[in-house]
Amino acid sequence: MKQIAPSILSADFSQLTEEIQKVEEAGADLIHLDVMDGHFVPNLTFGPPVIASIRKVTRLPFDVHLMIEKPERSIQAFVDAGSDFITVHAEAEIHLNRTIAFIKEKGLKAGVSINPATPLCLIEEIIRDIDLLMIMSVNPGFGGQIFIQNILEKIKKARNLIDEKAPDVLLEVDGGVNLENIRSLKEAGIDIFVAGSAVFKNKDYKQTIQSMKKILNDD
Ligand code: DX5
Ligand code: ZN
Repeated sequence: MKQIAPSILSADFSQLTEEIQKVEEAGADLIHLDVMDGHFVPNLTFGPPVIASIRKVTRLPFDVHLMIEKPERSIQAFVDAGSDFITVHAEAEIHLNRTIAFIKEKGLKAGVSINPATPLCLIEEIIRDIDLLMIMSVNPGFGGQIFIQNILEKIKKARNLIDEKAPDVLLEVDGGVNLENIRSLKEAGIDIFVAGSAVFKNKDYKQTIQSMKKILNDD
């Protein structure tokens, strides 16, 4: 089933509980949590304490996107905070295999993300070991950026790689997803659609999420 994962990066942080509950009521499938360290990306957001406190306000799974250097040092804290998926960047991790194995040992779903300039072949040897592959369609660090059009080709290649080698792996796209491009992303083979500004910048979250779902469920 195709899933929508609103990114709270574009939510009103002073009203986080309400914002999360509103997107849950609007039909969100996952909550996407963007963790930034000011090193791997030029921005800072939040870490395990915030995730642990919002864990109480929703039943939706947490899709935690770690845009941090040396993520292996902090995985345990994100496990304890109540993550369901933990995704690390291939560019940030030298011993990717070990970190993925660690996340899975903890009983969580393990994901790998790659930046727009990173070739897909970087994750080829690990595709059978992961639960989720996240393709960045903007340079990570900020919400509200424009979808990089040529990433569509990489997504199609990723779909083929998954179908051929690891059909259970979920394919996720992150960055610049909106009502205009979601159909082409669906056709390219995406399973999970992260949407930050497209959801939170329009007051009627339900209208946006349901319109997205309508496109995803159209034949
Ligand atoms: C970018 C983040 C994204 C971002 C998406 O660094 O990883 O998850 O919040 O926001 P939009 O949908 O506005 O591009
Ligand atoms: Zn993200």
